[in-house]
Amino acid sequence: MKKVPFYELKPGQVVAEDIFKDSTLLISKGTVLKNKDIIRLRNHGIKNVEVYDENDFLEKKIEEKISIEFDNIPAIVEEETYKEWHEHFEFVKDITHLKDDPSELDSLAEDIYKKFLKSEDVILNLFHSLGDEALNAHSINTAIISSIIASKLDMPDIFLNNLLKACLLHDIGYSLIGKRVVFDYIDIEDVTVRSHIVSAYETFKDMQKKIGKEVVDAISTHHERFDGTGIFMRLKENDISPLVRILQIGDAYDSFIEAGNTPYDAMSFLLRYSGLIFDPYYVSVFFSIVGLYPTGTQVILNNGKKATVVKKGKTSSFPVVECEGNTIETGIDTGLFIREVIKEGE
Ligand SMILES: [Fe+2]
Ligand SMILES: [Fe+2]
Repeated sequence: MKKVPFYELKPGQVVAEDIFKDSTLLISKGTVLKNKDIIRLRNHGIKNVEVYDENDFLEKKIEEKISIEFDNIPAIVEEETYKEWHEHFEFVKDITHLKDDPSELDSLAEDIYKKFLKSEDVILNLFHSLGDEALNAHSINTAIISSIIASKLDMPDIFLNNLLKACLLHDIGYSLIGKRVVFDYIDIEDVTVRSHIVSAYETFKDMQKKIGKEVVDAISTHHERFDGTGIFMRLKENDISPLVRILQIGDAYDSFIEAGNTPYDAMSFLLRYSGLIFDPYYVSVFFSIVGLYPTGTQVILNNGKKATVVKKGKTSSFPVVECEGNTIETGIDTGLFIREVIKEGE
């Protein structure tokens, strides 16, 4: 919302607050201004008018579409920060901006990884969004999870910066082709899955100097597999860039949940394909941070009560849970442990 002097009013602007003259309503909130309205306001001596600006709509659009994965559990970052990243990414991912000024991508990458440099006690409660915005959320979530993994590994800033840039742009091929496969780790022969790699490669191959060769290579090879059975190049083990091997953990975890699975299923998927699709080392780092029961896992305790996992506890199998409004540490001290994992709504 912004205050505009009467001489700057233009047809098409939307009035953001009722306009009164001596307690008579001249124009009501929400009116799309026409020439005659502007003349009327001038004739009544109205000096300033509150109108909506583009940011109001952008903010509203983002607010409507972003939702936290699990209510009643603290979010991975403050909602405001996440929205800022989301908005920033919407701008950054535009290829013309990227070609013009790739420094915006660097600064978003830095903003995200700096937030997680010393992350202890991770509560992996991510935001998701729907429709056109869903890919933005997935890209940011991939960057967040990769930051959390990298924060445990004492990596130089240049590595972190490249890692985050690769995470943010890894699926940009889907934007370029206008179609998306949400979970793209199983059917890698699918035409859309193959196309998102090819289109990204075609777009970025001449931008290596601007975005960084390592980043462009990571985007083009992010569906290689640790056992050498991936897309196109069939790279194996350490021949796959560590940027890719870290990125894949966050990518697969987030998109598996986005495709309708639980966090527990997503962790189980990573463990099951450790050494096949994923580098076992990075799976183990992620596992050591999140535990067997990631944030949001719905469980039944040995006392028969339902609970939701908040975060990892002292060991991988004894998380901190939320049960009937209380935060409880499972384990020997409390005598509480997880009897079974249930699906949401069971
Ligand atoms: Fe992908
Ligand atoms: Fe992805």
